[in-house]
Amino acid sequence: MLYIGIDLGTSSVKLLLMDEAGKIKNIVTKEYPISFPKPGWSEQNPLDWFYSLMEGLKELVQERDKKEVNGISFSGQMHGMVILDKEDKVIRPAILWNDGRTWEECNYLNETIGREKISAYTGNMALAGFTAPKLLWVKRHEPDNFKKISKVMLPKDYIAYRLSGVHSTDVSDASGMLLFNVKEKCWSGEMLEIAGLKEEQMAKVYESYEVTGTLRADIAKELGFPLDCKVIAGGGDQAVAAVGTGTVGSGMCNVSLGTSGVVFVASKDYSQIKDNALHVFAHADGRYHFMGVMLSAAASNKWWMDEVLKTREYVKEQEAIPDLGKNNVYFLPYLMGERTPHNDPDARGTFVGMTMDTTREDMTQAVLEGVAFALRDSFEIVKETGLSVKRIRINGGGAKSPLWCRIIANVLNVKVDKINSGEGPAFGAAILAAVGCKEFISVEEAAARLIKVTETTEPEEEIVRRYEKKYAVFKEIYPALKPVYKRMAEEQD
Ligand code: XUL
Repeated sequence: MLYIGIDLGTSSVKLLLMDEAGKIKNIVTKEYPISFPKPGWSEQNPLDWFYSLMEGLKELVQERDKKEVNGISFSGQMHGMVILDKEDKVIRPAILWNDGRTWEECNYLNETIGREKISAYTGNMALAGFTAPKLLWVKRHEPDNFKKISKVMLPKDYIAYRLSGVHSTDVSDASGMLLFNVKEKCWSGEMLEIAGLKEEQMAKVYESYEVTGTLRADIAKELGFPLDCKVIAGGGDQAVAAVGTGTVGSGMCNVSLGTSGVVFVASKDYSQIKDNALHVFAHADGRYHFMGVMLSAAASNKWWMDEVLKTREYVKEQEAIPDLGKNNVYFLPYLMGERTPHNDPDARGTFVGMTMDTTREDMTQAVLEGVAFALRDSFEIVKETGLSVKRIRINGGGAKSPLWCRIIANVLNVKVDKINSGEGPAFGAAILAAVGCKEFISVEEAAARLIKVTETTEPEEEIVRRYEKKYAVFKEIYPALKPVYKRMAEEQD
């Protein structure tokens, strides 16, 4: 039997073909455009996703027995708003997760309605990327479009709909809409009312590994797939990536060192997080997860190396770094503002503590350490939930650096594991498809069987002790500079 995992990303769709034993057979990627109609706006045409997907699916199975394809599932860029009219036609381009136009709507939700209420209804606070503020924006700025809405969909759910004809979503992706009661795993009546929507305008909610339907007959015929090929709900990209790294169950943690940095912790129980400092979402394994997202992780190092030092010699620059935990230079990695825990778009990248003998190596080290300290900020909040996290899995481009893994192991004081699969979300989606088709009893069982640790970096007592003191200093820098960042934003030309 064959299973397909579809990762609908922001710049491309990645398709992965896996057999029932979890062996990857083929991977295909198809790109599509993104448009930025105004500064801070970000949109895509859902039809581009679908046409790229169909092209990709045909290529993916070209040399295989198509009748073997038993199930398809999804990982999707989260929070995006796709609105359909009563004929299921897309009303306007999708407004994406990284679109920042809704700050007034977020202020309305967090200040006028009040953060406590929003948080009681959903488990989270309003952030510009989330879906509910986007709907309020359309209601106010495009009332004719708002009136036409028959269904509100998330990006991956739109392509799932095109394949199966079913309006479905899953608990993990729905959690990022701010219309969903995460704890109870159902639409929030209060939030729908605030957004001016009715429940029949929302998709039916499934667990990520549940079957939502089968392929439409015309699609099955076009692809040469069996008519009873199952469509499985899938999930938001972070939750499905976590499935792909085996971060499931309770207390397991994945740190992703990509452009952005994510601290993702699986939890069997729901818990309200103080000040909404982390996102609390349902997980694709049937339980919950907490998530801290920093906006510039590997992006900070890339900026420092490519734009400032003007070098591509990442390995050579890092080899020259002497002892860990003895650097007196600090770096705040807020080059694009920060999401977790400060939620401050005005924060900026900042070096602190240079003296006449500060070297290039000290500054490179400060950048790597600054990202690790910022990840620890999220990690500390996770600890407050009572979950005990002793080891983490690491993935993303930054995880290729052994030095950075060592810094993270020592700053967080945990064992850092690397795993046998680097295919995160697309692999996670294929696993969900296989679980939905009963190849495995549960997502946890599949993860335990398919994902193995290949290498571990251990924390070193002496360095942990030194970093403990450095982190205490790091923590004081942002609050001291917060008013300065605000003033700088006000004065910006
Ligand atoms: C999660 C998030 C991103 C997007 C795009 O909260 O904003 O992971 O889903 O990848």
